[in-house]
Amino acid sequence: MRNNENVVFFKSLLKAPLKTGAFFPSSRNLASSISSFVNIPEPDEYILEIGAGTGRLTSALLERGIPGSQLIILEMQPSLVKFLRKTVPCVTVIEGNATDLLSLLPEKTIGNIQTIVSGIPMVNLRLSDQQQIVTAVKNVMKPDGTLLQFTYRPGSPLPSSKLGLDQRYLGHVFLNMPPAAIWEYKTAHHTALHPASFAFMNHFKFKRAGL
Ligand SMILES: C[S@@+](CC[C@H](N)C(=O)[O-])C[C@H]1O[C@@H](n2cnc3c(N)ncnc32)[C@H](O)[C@@H]1O
Repeated sequence: MRNNENVVFFKSLLKAPLKTGAFFPSSRNLASSISSFVNIPEPDEYILEIGAGTGRLTSALLERGIPGSQLIILEMQPSLVKFLRKTVPCVTVIEGNATDLLSLLPEKTIGNIQTIVSGIPMVNLRLSDQQQIVTAVKNVMKPDGTLLQFTYRPGSPLPSSKLGLDQRYLGHVFLNMPPAAIWEYKTAHHTALHPASFAFMNHFKFKRAGL
């Protein structure tokens, strides 16, 4: 099975190198480290994996104890989708682009996704493409939901402030070729000041200035 997995992965790399973004599937170490940051969902919550590849992270999420009935995985390459439907039949496998999550996901999951685990090589994307994926993620995730992303490059793989995200570095996994970093993102909910607060502040500013 492992040989077959490598062949399927390698073919997808030849077909779409930038979208695949890695020479090998994630190691078991990386996959289990990422899954350790995923909480077991409540009965009405879901976990979504985007860019599932050959399903390394999927298997680790199932081993972590995420019920297959609450795990949805998305992949855009048809050959990989076929492979996933055969190898992880207990989860919902969806074929499509992560930019279209709102129309692709089952209605009951929208707004009930607790964590999204991403294998999509975000660093290879233009800002406008990152924006489309992050908007799609925010549209389907719970307001306090989490996006987990791994990267082989130094620094955050997403420009958080431009994308309206709060970021947190979770650590490195050195037993992976190449070593990878894991990052966590949440929707930035900046406390906006009510217009009345500005009027109140201006009142004192002008009073102090004797106006
Ligand atoms: C580096 S592989 C990761 C595979 C797997 N998650 C792993 O860790 O081994 C990235 C995968 O993301 C998929 N992908 C890239 N962009 C995507 C998009 N916009 N929507 C859905 N899948 C995408 C690619 O086809 C590829 O299978």
